[in-house]
Amino acid sequence: MARFTLPRDLYHGKGSLENLKNLKGKKAVIVVGGGAMKRNGFLQKAEDYLKEAGMEVSLIEGVEPDPSVTTVMNGAAKMLEFQPDWIVAMGGGSPIDAAKAMWIKYEYPDCTFEDMCKVFGIPELRKKAHFCAIPSTSGTATEVTAFSIITDYDKGIKYPIADFEITPDVAIVDSDLAETMPQKLTAHTGMDAITHAIEAYVSTANCDYTDPLAIHAIEMIMDDLVPSYNGDMEARARMHNAQCLAGMAFSNALLGIVHSMAHKTGAIFQDCGAHIIHGAANAMYLPKVIAFNAKDPTAKKRYGVIADYMHLGGNNDDEKVELLIKYLRKMNDDLKIPHCIKNYGADSYPCEQGFVPENVFLERLPEIAKNAILDACTGSNPRQPSQEEMEKLLKCCYYDTEVDF
Ligand SMILES: NC(=O)c1ccc[n+]([C@@H]2O[C@H](COP(=O)([O-])OP(=O)(O)OC[C@H]3O[C@@H](n4cnc5c(N)ncnc54)[C@H](O)[C@@H]3O)[C@@H](O)[C@H]2O)c1
Ligand SMILES: [Zn+2]
Repeated sequence: MARFTLPRDLYHGKGSLENLKNLKGKKAVIVVGGGAMKRNGFLQKAEDYLKEAGMEVSLIEGVEPDPSVTTVMNGAAKMLEFQPDWIVAMGGGSPIDAAKAMWIKYEYPDCTFEDMCKVFGIPELRKKAHFCAIPSTSGTATEVTAFSIITDYDKGIKYPIADFEITPDVAIVDSDLAETMPQKLTAHTGMDAITHAIEAYVSTANCDYTDPLAIHAIEMIMDDLVPSYNGDMEARARMHNAQCLAGMAFSNALLGIVHSMAHKTGAIFQDCGAHIIHGAANAMYLPKVIAFNAKDPTAKKRYGVIADYMHLGGNNDDEKVELLIKYLRKMNDDLKIPHCIKNYGADSYPCEQGFVPENVFLERLPEIAKNAILDACTGSNPRQPSQEEMEKLLKCCYYDTEVDF
């Protein structure tokens, strides 16, 4: 028995932001990030549409990239004061994810962050507010997913909150919002999206409902990501849809250890001067994880199917897996993403010596591997790694060495 859950309504296409006019309620709070939505006029538009719908509007601004537990708790306190019946989250994955967690705390003020992190353990929401999500990046698809990723900066760890309760009620996928993304953001979020689709397709929870979404997303991203990165706005609009399809797939089929590893390496080296950006981490680890997972016969066959849909050639599944890995590495080159942590610069671009020193990496490796195994995304990976295998895999991701185990 399985469940497939999506938002009740999904508006898409250029100009679809206007559908905010049709929300029914008295008070809406808009949650946004650091200023991109304001600078580009979308925040004002959203506010105007909601007022047209007859609602009183309040703002929660300044959610930081990779939002913290503190940001969530502060936002929830503002919601408790304002008492909205709509939460409208607009921007990249960060403000939308933060708003989802604020929503839980708003509905259940006694709920702690630890309570929220119990997988599929969120109590029934929508007693106080409904949720509308409007993405401005083409990657996380949090507008349709049952997930929210919050960082505990004391521990340097990202925790996924996972429950269909936090799947938004309404998603507005308006590609106008994605047009202002700079190249680097386009690259990283796009590789996040293809990782979602590939991990969903080989996940042990894949099904007939998620497979077509994952495959179509992969085909679209293959055609559109690099052109979108190079400024083709029609390709950018298609990418906005493609990432959303990938999200519909992975929200229901779940993910795998590329995400487990990205969650546990993203913030752990911040004392060395930077984060490893989520999409870039996925882009570097995905080819390594494919090589690791392909030792599982079912996963190998499924990677072969992906390669077939991508018309990569190959006479057998081994060759197809190799061609898929090669193709993804070429995408990283085209998008100026390094192949390994060792070459990941503080600015995210490839360089000879990245910001994570070898000795620091090796010192923290056992702990990172342990935490990655414990991540909520590991359970649906087609091959369950031991501590030793996870450490070896992470080393391959640090040095860009071959996965032969
Ligand atoms: N909930 C999920 O299902 C899910 C899935 C994958 C990743 N995530 C999480 O999402 C977060 C990453 O989200 P993201 O990649 O969307 O980036 P983000 O929300 O962290 O934003 C990154 C930067 O881009 C700017 N920005 C956003 N949209 C812009 C636009 N249209 N034009 C110009 N600048 C813009 C923001 O202001 C910010 O400075 C991570 O915390 C990651 O772990 C969540
Ligand atoms: Zn992701």
